[in-house]
Amino acid sequence: MPSKLPRHVAVIMDGNGRWARRRGLPRIRGHAEGVKAAERAIETAKEFGIPYLTLYAFSTENWKRPKEEVEFLMELLREYLRENLERFKREGIRVRFIGRRDRIPRRTLEWMERVERETENCNAVTVFVAVDYGGRDEIVRAANRALEAGERFFTEEVLRRYLDLPPEVPDPDLLIRTAGERRISNFLLWYLAYTELYFTEVLWPDFDREEFLKALEDYSRRKRKFGGLAEDEEETD
Ligand code: FPP
Repeated sequence: MPSKLPRHVAVIMDGNGRWARRRGLPRIRGHAEGVKAAERAIETAKEFGIPYLTLYAFSTENWKRPKEEVEFLMELLREYLRENLERFKREGIRVRFIGRRDRIPRRTLEWMERVERETENCNAVTVFVAVDYGGRDEIVRAANRALEAGERFFTEEVLRRYLDLPPEVPDPDLLIRTAGERRISNFLLWYLAYTELYFTEVLWPDFDREEFLKALEDYSRRKRKFGGLAEDEEETD
């Protein structure tokens, strides 16, 4: 058991396409396998008592992918929600979404809203799924919402209230990105200011409990300073 656990883990689930290609399978098979990995990550977060998990499922840029792949991903999400709603409720998994809602196919959006509503009182773990999400887009939407609400002067606290993640949710302590890429790709820009970054070569469909544990172990060894001094550097009189 890692000595220090994050309260909020964010994940860029990358490498589904490569996983499929290496097996001579269509990309969408990689996404289907990716759902299973997402499920394992939720179970592991719950097992370790990590209260918040945020998963990047579809970015504002992902609309540029072939129409069939986009449609498949939207249907995959809907099916996943439909098949798992009762289990979420049974296991105390609260599911919420961040990102734009105005471009999601209606059939998918209906299930997203239903799952949010029906898991509202679940409290073992909260999973935020980022769908049609972009960090810059989120900040611009927040600013516009703030203006519409009559705000006239921005502070960090004011803007934070209008972002997609509810204000009580702590910033991610740990960001995991799979499949070897070392970039943020417009994910959670506002909140990642002091987040510890963990990159692994493992492709998302292969990311299992053991790989999650490696990331947690690595995190537990990090010295966090938030621009100040690490705890063991502080002077004690
Ligand atoms: C990145 O792999 C993955 C995505 C764009 C989609 C992630 C979606 C899922 C794992 C399924 C939906 C999730 C839930 C929670 C139901 P890629 O296609 O960019 O892979 P590549 O870089 O190897 O091509």
